[in-house]
Amino acid sequence: MNTPQSTTNTAGDETIQTCDIQLDDFTIDPFTLVIFGGAGDLSQRKLLPMLFHIFTEGDLPPDFSIVGFGLPEMDDEGYRSLVRAAVRTHGEESFDQMQWEEFSRHLHYLSGDFETDANYEKLTGELNLLCGKQSGEKRRVIYYMAVPPNFFPVIINQLSSHRLCKDRFDTRIIIEKPFGRDRGSAEALSRTIREAFDESQIYRIDHYLGKETVQNIIFFRFANSIFEPLWNRRYIDNVQITVAEDLGIEHRGNFYEQAGVVRDIIQNHMLQLVALVAMEPPVGFEADYIRDEKVKIFRSIRPMDREYVDAFSVRGQYGPGTIGGEMVPGYRDEENVAKDSNTPTFIAAKLHIDNWRWAGVPFYIRAGKRLPRRITQICVQFKQPPLRLFSNTSDIMKPNFLLLTVQPREEITLHFGVKYPLSRNAIHPVNMEFDYQKAFKTKRHSPYERLLIDCMRGDLTLFVRQDGIAAQWDVVDSLTACWEANPATDFPNYSAGTWGSEDSERLIQKDGRSWITK
Ligand code: BG6
Repeated sequence: MNTPQSTTNTAGDETIQTCDIQLDDFTIDPFTLVIFGGAGDLSQRKLLPMLFHIFTEGDLPPDFSIVGFGLPEMDDEGYRSLVRAAVRTHGEESFDQMQWEEFSRHLHYLSGDFETDANYEKLTGELNLLCGKQSGEKRRVIYYMAVPPNFFPVIINQLSSHRLCKDRFDTRIIIEKPFGRDRGSAEALSRTIREAFDESQIYRIDHYLGKETVQNIIFFRFANSIFEPLWNRRYIDNVQITVAEDLGIEHRGNFYEQAGVVRDIIQNHMLQLVALVAMEPPVGFEADYIRDEKVKIFRSIRPMDREYVDAFSVRGQYGPGTIGGEMVPGYRDEENVAKDSNTPTFIAAKLHIDNWRWAGVPFYIRAGKRLPRRITQICVQFKQPPLRLFSNTSDIMKPNFLLLTVQPREEITLHFGVKYPLSRNAIHPVNMEFDYQKAFKTKRHSPYERLLIDCMRGDLTLFVRQDGIAAQWDVVDSLTACWEANPATDFPNYSAGTWGSEDSERLIQKDGRSWITK
């Protein structure tokens, strides 16, 4: 892993312009990575370019193999050409031919469907060959499920019946959402996985947890003594979390029609953000301590019955509109979307966390596709001072708030009021800002990269545990059930390029508040 260098500013002082902290030195044991769907879209666009990038950074051990397993017929050489093209198209701008040649020697391919026994016998043979004998220790084998979710059980059952899960190798499995489409199906999937693997072998990805600023929420809260004393119902008025995307559904109509915004964003990424903001300090920084605290938050979120859903949630679906000066089609005109689709692409809602710390503090959440811009942001709004000392003679004071911006920039902003120069008592709002990239001059890493490396190192902290997934479904199941039983009559109800259905403004305004976005 790269070690950032310290620099000196023009005055000759060491600054935090770049950091001079020695990063943990870690080694990754030799491994074999089997990618199911190794020639598919996810592999070509994300996984393989990222693996090449990790390799060029010098983070992979000398002894590793990558086996692509997929339907298209080709041999190892054919696979290497496919991966080369993928790396060139989707990878980092610079492409080093020498590095590529070395990397490509580690690539292998097995073609076949995921159902047939014979293909798993081929896989066993390949693994035996690649894994060889290693001084008494079992070789690490990581399975990556880069396939549609209907294949998860098929592949896992086959791996299990060919004794490829626990017996011969030291295995781990990486799977990515969707983990079911409700609690019942998530539990069924979990049973299948748990029959084959132990919980400690299962790496469930929520890629938001690989984002540096998302991880920083815990550090910000628990490594500083300034804010934690204020982080409760006595000082915080409300919390707002926005996950806005300007993108539409990007040729994923089939998937999105089944998912909608709640299953796509709220059940996973949004609830993870809520948990990180709201959780109690964990007993330690180990994976399970943090995951225990998050589960408590999911369980404290007030259940949503029909009345609650009607009163405190708003759904929307985008119609045509303009984003960045370009006309974009409405959701119902996207590929593989029904002309009368009732799938929501936008949500705003008010959550209550019924625990000691947060009683009475609303958490407003909103997320959607085709909003004016991409921004993921947490706004913690503090209460007004107890007395309005300046109220008769000056402007109404704006509340203090703290913005934790996850993307597109990684920033922390504290907003407060100062006396306007030379005025008698006019208050002027100002910001105190911290910008990750400016401060540390670090390169941005893809969250998947961090997560993949963590899996190789055996660190489960940033992965989701099964009880967490179940509890997250418990939060949203009643909402989706309610919406599905009562189809919206006004879709599409917002134009692409606007901040969603107007009802979302009313939702927060009726509490005397408004959405805050930087
Ligand atoms: C994925 C969703 O999990 O997250 C996509 O399936 C969404 O619909 C994406 O676009 C957003 O991720 P990010 O990292 O771009 O905010």
